[in-house]
Amino acid sequence: MSGDAIRLDGKVAIVTGGAGGIGEATARLLTARGARVAIADIAVDRATALAAQIDGAIAVPLDLEDEASITAMVAQVVAAFGRLDVLHNNAALLGPDVAQNDGDVETMATALWDRTYAVNVRGTMIACRAALPHLCATGGNIVNTVSNLALQGHLIQAAYSSSKAAVIQMTRAIAASHGPRGVRCNAVAPGMTMTPALREAFPPALRQLVEDETLRDRLGEPEDIAEVVAFLASPAARNITGQVLVADGGCASHVPGIAGFRAFLSGEPA
Ligand SMILES: NC(=O)c1ccc[n+]([C@@H]2O[C@H](COP(=O)([O-])OP(=O)(O)OC[C@H]3O[C@@H](n4cnc5c(N)ncnc54)[C@H](O)[C@@H]3O)[C@@H](O)[C@H]2O)c1
Repeated sequence: MSGDAIRLDGKVAIVTGGAGGIGEATARLLTARGARVAIADIAVDRATALAAQIDGAIAVPLDLEDEASITAMVAQVVAAFGRLDVLHNNAALLGPDVAQNDGDVETMATALWDRTYAVNVRGTMIACRAALPHLCATGGNIVNTVSNLALQGHLIQAAYSSSKAAVIQMTRAIAASHGPRGVRCNAVAPGMTMTPALREAFPPALRQLVEDETLRDRLGEPEDIAEVVAFLASPAARNITGQVLVADGGCASHVPGIAGFRAFLSGEPA
């Protein structure tokens, strides 16, 4: 692969939820690869402070629960930069308060379900809809962030995981409808990724369970996901569309119960 193919020189990218975590790492990497980046976030102060640190970046207010705010975000970025090449839908409804209440379907609060779908699915759809005319004009692309939880059943986060599965299907639908118009649409599915927020909030015992299922020697870092986004957004991925690239250190790629097998084969008690 030519080094130029992974570059994004002259491109304009929106990173939603770009004020922290994986979005911040992605905003920094897309800039390092040559793009001008709009950091769109509900946390306007954090987005503004980060934009001040990143060459050429701007901060744009965004509330994915508010349709007008989403269309205004796209309009503001196109007005500022004159074009749009990449929409990275990274923001999602997250946080310990949300995750703790998002259990199984039998115990699901309708309000939490609705809010999760409002941000993760409806908000993402409206962002794609607003961006598509501009992406058609530039031959641009969309990268949606989903989750490896969208690919497997779990005891927890039924709303979150199923909303991310809906985004996977939206990814394929856009790839199909807009491929002939020169627009690609892909998704990245991270596994547990050690953002500052997660490092602080995730119980160590649960973290160990995930580490035991990881095929690498460590959990993912925000920069690991940023690399995948930058690749999918770049001309190096020009023949890839409608795909989900799983970047979870192998968690979703092995037989169930591998931690127990590992212990058994090494002679340790499971
Ligand atoms: N960190 C992980 O382990 C992990 C694993 C799988 C998938 N993901 C996905 O990666 C993406 C980024 O996650 P993260 O861990 O970096 O999260 P984070 O909480 O660190 O960052 C999310 C950002 O989104 C913003 N945001 C939240 N609600 C918003 C709204 N309504 N409108 C606009 N912005 C809003 C927040 O202000 C925040 O800056 C999410 O889509 C998440 O589902 C993360």
